Amino acid sequence: MPAIVVLGAQWGDEGKGKATDLLGSRVDYVVKFNGGNNAGHTVVIGDEKYALHLLPSGILTPGVIPVIGNGVVIDLSVLFQEIDGLNSRGIDTSRLLVSANAHVIPSYNRTLDKVTERFLGSRRIGTTGRGIGPTYADKMSRVGIRIQDLFDEKILRQKVEGALDQKNHLLVKVYNRRAITVDEVVEELLAHTERLRPYVADTTLILGEALQRGDVVLLEAGQATLLDVDHGTYPFVTSSSATAGGACTGAGIPPTAITRVIGIAKAYITRVGEGPFPTELFDEDGEKLREIGHEFGTTTGRPRRCGWFDVPIARYAGRVNGITDLVLTKLDVLSGWELIPVCVAYDVDGEILTDLPMTQTGFHHAKPVYEYLPGWTEDISGARTLADLPQTAQDYVAFLEARSAVRISAIGVGPERDQTVVVHNLVD
Ligand code: GDP
Ligand code: IMO
Ligand code: MG
Repeated sequence: MPAIVVLGAQWGDEGKGKATDLLGSRVDYVVKFNGGNNAGHTVVIGDEKYALHLLPSGILTPGVIPVIGNGVVIDLSVLFQEIDGLNSRGIDTSRLLVSANAHVIPSYNRTLDKVTERFLGSRRIGTTGRGIGPTYADKMSRVGIRIQDLFDEKILRQKVEGALDQKNHLLVKVYNRRAITVDEVVEELLAHTERLRPYVADTTLILGEALQRGDVVLLEAGQATLLDVDHGTYPFVTSSSATAGGACTGAGIPPTAITRVIGIAKAYITRVGEGPFPTELFDEDGEKLREIGHEFGTTTGRPRRCGWFDVPIARYAGRVNGITDLVLTKLDVLSGWELIPVCVAYDVDGEILTDLPMTQTGFHHAKPVYEYLPGWTEDISGARTLADLPQTAQDYVAFLEARSAVRISAIGVGPERDQTVVVHNLVD
């Protein structure tokens, strides 16, 4: 029963889309199990570049069945815009399956996401403004609207009424906005029902049967370990479970089905939005990483904050997720530094820690302890085997592997599918 998880080992944008696409031809299903259109996964195939937000990256591989799992929150107009965009480029999306249990993002939650951030002021999270947080909050408060509700107008109306009882108080009394009517929300949601119908399925049943048959199911995470609502830098996190455990609940598959957990980490590190970031660079090096690495958000276009590789974070991601293989991406971006600093530990108020501090206060106080590794100047984008890499680049990878205590199985040397050095096979 081989299920493989692909997830982010840092703060997102590690290159999960490329890794999923790379494995695409060897898998039968690709399931998105968490998040929504806050994600932005870029896949480059030849001269074509695809930015996927809501659809799993497997949609680009002919023959693969893409699945939006129950753990996802769906903005229906974005879903159909993305489908239309791919169709107009000749990509077939007809195999897509959408879980009847996934939640929808009504427009009032986009409004609430934005106004909440504005009211938080300096305490804002820096969300993508897509309504993700309020929709997951509704799910937990049991006032969410699910895909299946769209097919029973009476139930839908009742649920929208229940939700608006709370939302309108907030919107009108706290945020000084106009009240929303039940009719307008029901109309907005029903506008998509007929188009949605053929995609809706009991995805946990389908995936369970697929695993029984021995099909390969790849579970593609949005966001990342340090953005996970339980294991990330709370409250500067997203509102879903982006770690390996989330793959089970968000897709409805058993933990015993998972045979591989592939973590994706950049050879340095980036973050979008607010929150603590021990190795963040505010100098020319940070600018250089941003420029060479094209570190601007796929979803919001915001410049990404850049810093050096953080070993305690990699160790943490390895442990929390049970990472069996790490894909180290964007090593090519590091060409041209004489010395490359690597954060091997934190100094937290005088105490040296090689693991993450227990508390957020500790993490806010963490100062990186660096070791400096010799760099290389060669363009490594053409490397396809370890031996093609300059010795100092090989040593850099070996150092990260040893200190992070995770096996590095592939190395990204460019955005294209084939710009990858495979050290160990990622699919058995
Ligand atoms: P995701 O959210 O984890 O899927 O990552 P994003 O797509 O948001 O950001 C990763 C960016 O890096 C994308 O633009 C990719 O095309 C690009 N990328 C992925 N791997 C590599 C690599 O090894 N080298 C370089 N130069 N770019 C890469
Ligand atoms: P991918 O899948 C990087 C960040 C936002 C913000 C926080 C909460 O492309 O790696 P949200 O809108 O989710 O409530 O915002 O999480 N964030 C991401 N950062 N990559 C992502 O996705 C992200 N999805 C959310 O910037 O700090
Ligand atoms: Mg991204």
